[in-house]
Amino acid sequence: MHPVFLRLGMTLPILQAPIGSMASPELAAAVCEAGGLGQLSFTWKNAGQQESDMEKMRLLTKRNWGANFVLDFPVEEQLARALDRGVGLVSFFWGDGSEHLPSITLAGAVSAQVVGTVDEARRAADAGFDIVVAQGAEAGGHVRGTMGTLALVPQVVDAVSPLPVVAAGGIADRRGVAAAFALGAAGVWVGTRFLAAREADVHPVYRDEVLRATGDRAIRCEAFDIGWPAAPHRVLVNSTVRAWTNAGRPRAPHRPGEAQQVALRPDGSGISRYHFAAPHSGMSGDVEAMALYAGEGVGLVREVEPAATIVADLARGIPELAG
Ligand SMILES: Cc1cc2nc3c(=O)[nH]c(=O)nc-3n(C[C@H](O)[C@H](O)[C@H](O)COP(=O)(O)O)c2cc1C
Repeated sequence: MHPVFLRLGMTLPILQAPIGSMASPELAAAVCEAGGLGQLSFTWKNAGQQESDMEKMRLLTKRNWGANFVLDFPVEEQLARALDRGVGLVSFFWGDGSEHLPSITLAGAVSAQVVGTVDEARRAADAGFDIVVAQGAEAGGHVRGTMGTLALVPQVVDAVSPLPVVAAGGIADRRGVAAAFALGAAGVWVGTRFLAAREADVHPVYRDEVLRATGDRAIRCEAFDIGWPAAPHRVLVNSTVRAWTNAGRPRAPHRPGEAQQVALRPDGSGISRYHFAAPHSGMSGDVEAMALYAGEGVGLVREVEPAATIVADLARGIPELAG
């Protein structure tokens, strides 16, 4: 185990990747209790939602947990609230979080930067991040780079050694974990597999699509760009992607059903067809038409299981524990 994970009190080098609002406190805490590290995405949470999530974490686990921030959005207030609450790990995606390093260090938290290229990795290492997360293009959700995990991870390892590199993208079972360690990773960052965790806040329609899909259905595109433009993402082909593809992939605002609202948030506000929101359990309507983020490893995700069972399965791929 790398010392940075021991500093976080982890007993397994397994991190539950930030998966937007689907990462409930129940999921993150269960991963922490199983010896890994769970993370919450605070980018799109208002103060009340974030405080309530953090209070739940306090009640559910005494272990360290992580908070994630997507830098295409304003995150200063959310970050300050998380640091105030003594969050263990702060991770940044889609942008360079180095300007926040002094406040993270002052608060005693561990810092991680998600990267999609070797250059980005070098910059993160030079800036002083504690962990570099190399996200390969197989990944579900927003995909930073174009290189696959198999080629990216060892190149990042060579570029930033001895800094610990955590591998992300396409790791969904013990074989993927073993592969990540063979590439020189110090840990794994797993998203799609945790969409099938019992504790995750995933709409049942979305979850069923995840359980049914094969990896070829998880395509990289920019279809769901309302609210977060110019950010490629990997989603399951669904009715929206199919209609858009059949129409020759026209640009906004000429896409099929562009003006339609397909679903509703718990507060009753509408979600338009090409909005980047994914369906968690509080949403209603034609949620199948929404962004169903998933990575190519989705074909390895076949059943709903407690997060602790998923962590234990992944752990069997760690070299010292394999057997
Ligand atoms: C549903 C979903 C939502 C995501 N939301 C975020 C997010 O809010 N912040 C972030 O840094 N990454 C996000 N990601 C990317 C993951 O953190 C991670 O890089 C990716 O899931 C790893 O690949 P995998 O899905 O093959 O395990 C998301 C991924 C998924 C599947």
